[in-house]
Amino acid sequence: MSALPQATPRSAAPSGDREFIFRNEDFRQIAAMLHADSGIFLSEQKESLVYSRLVKRLRALGLSSFKDYCALVADHSGVQERQNMLAALTTNVTRFFREPHHFEYLKETVLPPLLQAAKRGGRVRIWSAGCSKGQEPYSIAMTILSLMPDAVNYDVRVLATDIDPNVLQEGRDGVYDKSELEDMPKPERSRFFSPANGSASSFTVSDDMRRLVSFKELNLVGQWPVKGPFNVIFCRNVVIYFNEDTQSKIWERFSSLLVPQGLLCIGHSERLSGPALPRFKPTGTTMYVHGRGGTA
Ligand SMILES: C[S@@+](CC[C@H](N)C(=O)[O-])C[C@H]1O[C@@H](n2cnc3c(N)ncnc32)[C@H](O)[C@@H]1O
Repeated sequence: MSALPQATPRSAAPSGDREFIFRNEDFRQIAAMLHADSGIFLSEQKESLVYSRLVKRLRALGLSSFKDYCALVADHSGVQERQNMLAALTTNVTRFFREPHHFEYLKETVLPPLLQAAKRGGRVRIWSAGCSKGQEPYSIAMTILSLMPDAVNYDVRVLATDIDPNVLQEGRDGVYDKSELEDMPKPERSRFFSPANGSASSFTVSDDMRRLVSFKELNLVGQWPVKGPFNVIFCRNVVIYFNEDTQSKIWERFSSLLVPQGLLCIGHSERLSGPALPRFKPTGTTMYVHGRGGTA
């Protein structure tokens, strides 16, 4: 039996073996809306990807063409669907201790003096910007707790932000499939995770991890409701989807929020650019120490 909506007749037959008509102008309209909302740039090569990610939304809504879908998300009555579109088009791939050298550097070099200062009443703030479902900020939390098991009793916090409220909710829930913990050393696994509701296949993060990490919605190309300053900013595998101008503005804004000697960690295929560049000194692969030097 066909799962296709029958209510609205099609104005034209879909081309090729596609279920819905997807015209170039539909793609361009969707790309323009996504760019305006999130800074994400979609090249023409992403046309098939956009089709395959949004086709489920058309089915769910009972629409018969991308033209109708574009009309919906462009209208103020389609605000919620526009959010769904963004969630469908963003890439949320992540994992615990991804790019492990960042966590090693954090543990061996950056955190020891910061946590000593916290014991004397200092403040430590780490920001995971574009945190997806929480694996990155929780990896930071585990790194902190492995050095300072009572960190929650001090002024040490991890801010985890993302544009997508769905992934933030998953982060807050803090429940992960067993397969996601497989690469983690056993001692960490049993120390920081416990079976979720007695399940053998999903695990929940420890209370201390939850208390260290706060999840908040934040669009990197919008207003940033954060005070800072931050000792460390992780912004990894996020700006790769933005154009260079947008990236440069984000580096500039990070620069204004990082303490002198603060650390910026970026993704393996990203690079710094723009006026803030001279203020960041490389310290290992995709890690930069923020200084006052350089010309703005
Ligand atoms: C590929 S994930 C990276 C997750 C994590 N940082 C890592 O490296 O494993 C990219 C995340 O960036 C988020 N994102 C995309 N555009 C954004 C924006 N304008 N503001 C904030 N987050 C954004 C997406 O929702 C997604 O969760």
